[in-house]
Amino acid sequence: MELPTLVEPVAPKTEVGSYFVSNYPPFSTWSPDHVPAAVEALNSAAEPNTPLGLYLHIPFCRKRCKFCYFRVYTDKNADEVETYLDALSREIALYASGREGFKGRQFEFVYFGGGTPSFLSNDQLKRIIERIGQHWTWEAAKEVTFECEPGTLKQSKLQTIKSIGVTRLSLGVEHFDDEVLSINGRAHKSPEIFQAYQWAREVGFPQINIDLIAGMLGETEDKWKVTVEKAVALQADSVTIYQMEVPYNTGIAKEAREHNGISAVASWAQKRAWVDYAFKQFEAAGYVVSSAYTLVKPSTHAGFVYRDSLWRGADLVGTGVASFSHFQGVHYQNVDTWEQYIDMINRGELPIHRALPITDHQRLIREMILQIKTGSLDAGYFRKKFGVEIRHEFSEGFNSLVDEGFAQLYGDDIRLTRDGLLRADSLLPRFFEPEFRGIRYT
Ligand SMILES: C[S@@+](CC[C@H](N)C(=O)[O-])C[C@H]1O[C@@H](n2cnc3c(N)ncnc32)[C@H](O)[C@@H]1O
Repeated sequence: MELPTLVEPVAPKTEVGSYFVSNYPPFSTWSPDHVPAAVEALNSAAEPNTPLGLYLHIPFCRKRCKFCYFRVYTDKNADEVETYLDALSREIALYASGREGFKGRQFEFVYFGGGTPSFLSNDQLKRIIERIGQHWTWEAAKEVTFECEPGTLKQSKLQTIKSIGVTRLSLGVEHFDDEVLSINGRAHKSPEIFQAYQWAREVGFPQINIDLIAGMLGETEDKWKVTVEKAVALQADSVTIYQMEVPYNTGIAKEAREHNGISAVASWAQKRAWVDYAFKQFEAAGYVVSSAYTLVKPSTHAGFVYRDSLWRGADLVGTGVASFSHFQGVHYQNVDTWEQYIDMINRGELPIHRALPITDHQRLIREMILQIKTGSLDAGYFRKKFGVEIRHEFSEGFNSLVDEGFAQLYGDDIRLTRDGLLRADSLLPRFFEPEFRGIRYT
């Protein structure tokens, strides 16, 4: 299939800044003044039947990717890793220490994110699980996800990962071209992807996801086509395709500052065309588009509990340096430096840095914009949960989407067109309260 030829004279490349919307209200509005509200929520009885999840941030990587905007360290030795893992298990223990908000609750979903959780050795992994196990079990968890960099995997490590209860392995493939991988600072090359994938299948994970990025430095039409072809051939249970973002704290943004803030990353229109091409190739191979970034193979895919719970208002306890949490209507984030994190844990305090209690209206907006990212929205869900007619309350927003060709409305069923889905994040700020439109997101 031919890729559409794009004429985009206005913005030939991607500007520096974040477009990806993962929460509401924006992080930049959270404040240390509200930390007591987070603690109060944790110490109060929870609304019955709210699912509970655990996120563990493992901030270590072999190398820092040029596009990475996460809190990661590439220079920590084994003793420091041990110090961090000890702090992480003590943080999780702090949540278990009789807080009212956790009474009678178990984690329904667990996510090891990074950084690179698979950076940890077999022994480190077994030890941390053993320590966490003194306070919590995740026997009730429907899904335990674990992010991996392909070059860190060995058969024995995959066996350990499986033995600690991981059900969903997520491989940061990103691309199959070795030159593209290297220009972007990835630590792995393509042979390691195939090897890791084969071992993961042999070890027998119920679900394997692969991450790809459209618009990496050095991307070309031909290289992208080959990458998509190889990705389809792997037959993963789900595939996540991000459009390359250039947030302020990335290596690419640093280089762009010397060029008027314009990066070497292809334009948004070009990235959309690449994702569109990939969607069509995966669809032709039997996959179904399940969000602006995800395709699933219906015959084997078991759902995505983490995403779907979070986008419907679940509680999430985010542990580790700089992690984000949501608990009973209060957003909060941990301190974002190593020193502060370790110090607070050593003092026996929850390492919370900033928070925001949100109103019911903001809860509704949050769920609405996150669910828009799946490509469809059921107005009946919001009527039942919030008693609000969203088609009426947000008529201006939805009508503008229809006028611009990005959505279609069929009664309660609100659907993004493919054009809308490919730019879903850019369509969301119109649903924000006026004071949050146009402000810096992070
Ligand atoms: C938190 S990262 C962890 C990746 C893991 N450390 C690895 O090496 O595979 C998770 C995913 O976010 C995506 N990602 C990270 N930075 C990105 C950016 N600037 N733009 C788009 N996607 C990005 C990548 O696909 C990556 O696999």
